[in-house]
Amino acid sequence: MSGAAVRYEASEAFARRMDAEDPLRHFRDEFLFPRHHGEPVIYFVGNSLGLQPRKATPYVLEALKDWEMHGVEGHFRGSHPWMPYHELLTEQTARLVGAHPLEVVVMNTLSVNLHLMLVSFYRPSGERRKILIEAGAFPSDQYAVASQVRFHGHTPEDAVLQLAPRPGEETLRTEDILDTIERHGKEIALVLLGNVNYLTGQAFDMATITRAAHRQGCKVGFDLAHAAGNLHLSLHDDGPDFAVWCSYKYLNGGPGTLGGVFVHERHAHDKTLPRFQGWWGHDKQSRFQMGPDFDPIPGAEGWQLSNPPIFQMAALRASMEIFDRATMPALRRKSELLTGYLEFLLDQLPPGFVRSITPRDPKQRGAHLSLRFSKEPRKLLETLTAQGVLCDFRSPDIIRAAPAPLYVSFLDVYRFAGVLERHARD
Ligand SMILES: Cc1ncc(COP(=O)(O)O)c(C=O)c1O
Repeated sequence: MSGAAVRYEASEAFARRMDAEDPLRHFRDEFLFPRHHGEPVIYFVGNSLGLQPRKATPYVLEALKDWEMHGVEGHFRGSHPWMPYHELLTEQTARLVGAHPLEVVVMNTLSVNLHLMLVSFYRPSGERRKILIEAGAFPSDQYAVASQVRFHGHTPEDAVLQLAPRPGEETLRTEDILDTIERHGKEIALVLLGNVNYLTGQAFDMATITRAAHRQGCKVGFDLAHAAGNLHLSLHDDGPDFAVWCSYKYLNGGPGTLGGVFVHERHAHDKTLPRFQGWWGHDKQSRFQMGPDFDPIPGAEGWQLSNPPIFQMAALRASMEIFDRATMPALRRKSELLTGYLEFLLDQLPPGFVRSITPRDPKQRGAHLSLRFSKEPRKLLETLTAQGVLCDFRSPDIIRAAPAPLYVSFLDVYRFAGVLERHARD
């Protein structure tokens, strides 16, 4: 099953054939689906909260049992001792995002991690004090950026530079991003982009943007909330200084679970980099000597503050093991086919009924399409929900549909399009 070779057909038989030929189809059985009249829902909201892996329960129960059996000794004994528990996720996380193990850590939550990274990588000085972000970046990122520039004595009006699409366009052009970096490079301390953009579904050319920004002497960070477990990332090679993401969307780690952080190897041993410090980031050998002086663990682990919540990590482990078996290249191959199929079916709907604002180029998007409907989008969302199809709504008129390849089938996509077609014709 390869993208270029597939000629899509708008028929149930075709969707079923695609599912039968899908080498990843069995992963669907490893997840628990909400039910609608006894049937699994069509779940297109994995970009908001991923489904629960079946193994999450036994893994969390195992950690609870260790607590019951060992009490505090569970830090060193039991099935998976808690002291190094977060390390169980390191190699898998590194493979997931294309990083070296030294460069990643699972800790805290996204907004917290973004602040920690801004402390280290937003170092305004003289003329170079601006942060370049997308206009309409995810609100938490806007708040984090505004509060950080104020923290350094600047104002957002002066120190936040926004990238907006051209008039009449919905998404950013790479050439315009590069042009802004080129023209304002000397004033920019940090380029911070949400990749994939949460609203438009646009994915950016990380390597090209990072190179251009570095040429101008800017630091570069990415918010990968909508990319981790969605895009095939190569963080080490693409070279941003840092990236942060959450694990409750495509990564299926459970509501409010821990996020991930990437800090490029070039910063791994830099003890002069300013950072907020906590005991869990301190050298592992001497941590329990309880000395007053902080000695950071080399790499991303050196940004840890606290000992981590084990039950959350246990649930996340269940999903990360699935990603490791499925592998991102294979998932991405399926994802391109699945999202491509969704786009093909949307193209068959009555003209003017729906318009995707997400780029058509598969390289410029992940699994999700942001759809604008000309006819009663809120009512359509209600109709979808009433028929067991879960999508989400972003005011005033965008329905986001994300066929996550681990557990969404081609038949799901075909049925989703069927509901849209009936709404269009009613
Ligand atoms: C792009 C983006 N950034 C940041 C956040 C905030 O994440 P958290 O609540 O885990 O800090 C979200 C949450 O959905 C998001 O989508």
